[in-house]
Amino acid sequence: MEKQRLDKILASTGRWSRREVKELARRGLVTVDGAPVRSAEEKFDPEAAEIAVNGEALCCRRYTWIMLNKPAGYLSATEDGRGETVLDLLPQELQRRKLFPVGRLDKDTEGLLLLTNEGVLAHALLSPKRHVDKVYYSRTAGRLTEEDCRAFAAGISLGDGLQCLPAKLEILSAGEESEAYVTLREGKFHQIKRMLAARGNPVTYLERIKMGNLALDRKLPRGAYRFLTEEEIAELRALV
Ligand code: URA
Repeated sequence: MEKQRLDKILASTGRWSRREVKELARRGLVTVDGAPVRSAEEKFDPEAAEIAVNGEALCCRRYTWIMLNKPAGYLSATEDGRGETVLDLLPQELQRRKLFPVGRLDKDTEGLLLLTNEGVLAHALLSPKRHVDKVYYSRTAGRLTEEDCRAFAAGISLGDGLQCLPAKLEILSAGEESEAYVTLREGKFHQIKRMLAARGNPVTYLERIKMGNLALDRKLPRGAYRFLTEEEIAELRALV
């Protein structure tokens, strides 16, 4: 949708006059994608921008995209009788938007998890055919070696017959406990844990730090979320 002035977008809701919008913006009470916008003349795409007044999000944006810094202990599901889900970390107003996680992180895995209600783009991002890389930081018990890197690059065969696509293992430190970045373009159940276990290096900690071009925002405390910006959503669209 074409960009429109902020005062026009907000006045079209019938809740504020343009003059009132100008004053609210001047006082820093209007935010777009979480950042205050001081000028009511600035232009945004009303379907793409997440606009809030006084902390209350307006439902102009067609789809919602959220980055969550997932803590351990939460299931990547929309509902589950067995425990808390990542949706429990969001306020009620967002829980009503029918959001779902874009792919799954295990209950004990932390880090970058996207939530959205835009099904088509979410599914495209997860398709192995699209080659959207996901990068993880891992700690493992046992010493990782260059041989492990070569095995990852060739594509690991798991004991249950699963043949993994070639993946990248970058060793950060090797010792009794090793640290590495793992880059995958698919997302099978417990994939990294199974790949590293197949090399004799069980995972002791796992965190997703990147998906495509989108890196985990280090300003987000564990358990906190923020809306993706228009630019970030556009970058995701460009990937598929
Ligand atoms: N691989 C895993 O083993 N677990 C995750 O949560 C993500 C990738």
